Amino acid sequence: MVTSHYDHIWDCCCDHGLLGMSLLSQQENSKVHFVDIVPELMATLKNKLERFYKNFTWQSHCIDVAKLPLAQYQGKHLVIIAGVGGDLMIKFIEAIYQQHKRLNIDFLLCPVHHQYALRQKLIKLDFSLKNEVLIEDNRRFYEILHVSSTSNITANISPIGDNIWCATDDYQAAVVDKYLTKTLSHYQRIQQGKNNNVQNIIDAYRAIKP
Ligand SMILES: C[S@@+](CC[C@H](N)C(=O)[O-])C[C@H]1O[C@@H](n2cnc3c(N)ncnc32)[C@H](O)[C@@H]1O
Repeated sequence: MVTSHYDHIWDCCCDHGLLGMSLLSQQENSKVHFVDIVPELMATLKNKLERFYKNFTWQSHCIDVAKLPLAQYQGKHLVIIAGVGGDLMIKFIEAIYQQHKRLNIDFLLCPVHHQYALRQKLIKLDFSLKNEVLIEDNRRFYEILHVSSTSNITANISPIGDNIWCATDDYQAAVVDKYLTKTLSHYQRIQQGKNNNVQNIIDAYRAIKP
């Protein structure tokens, strides 16, 4: 999903910076920006980048993701946010969107939980879908969403996902099956709690026929 037509790739909440470093080696035409809010993390990462990635194009930013300085850099942007909760991701995307309404920004999102709420937010902002995949790694499941901040009526984002439920081989069919079971039992547990009504979400997931 990270193709060479991006001028700037933002590895947000980068922590160890492994994702951005791997992209540096693959995407020679892009500048990779490493963003995290913790100064100690960024100092260690900057040191590593200066030692091992001297000849690559990168920049480190010790800032809040909600304040990405996208407008200071000309060209096509890809904002990657992975490994944080979908609820926090919603806040970041809302803030970035409000500050850069005129820019056509692509996002690559891999939320931890709250996938449904995140998708609802993207739909509300009228974002469009470029691609989505479901991955199992170390018994954890990840929905990865590649979206654009511009609307496209032929590429709507589904509140529960679309392509992620379509397996093309036996391995992926098993992943889909396990993830659907896990997601349904998660919402069924929530439904049992006091004052919780997520029946519409349960019905939507139940309607999926992988
Ligand atoms: C679990 S790590 C994610 C690492 C990596 N993206 C991954 O998927 O493996 C979460 C990181 O988000 C950073 N973070 C949390 N809130 C942030 C914010 N508002 N702005 C920038 N970074 C933030 C934390 O400092 C931490 O390094």
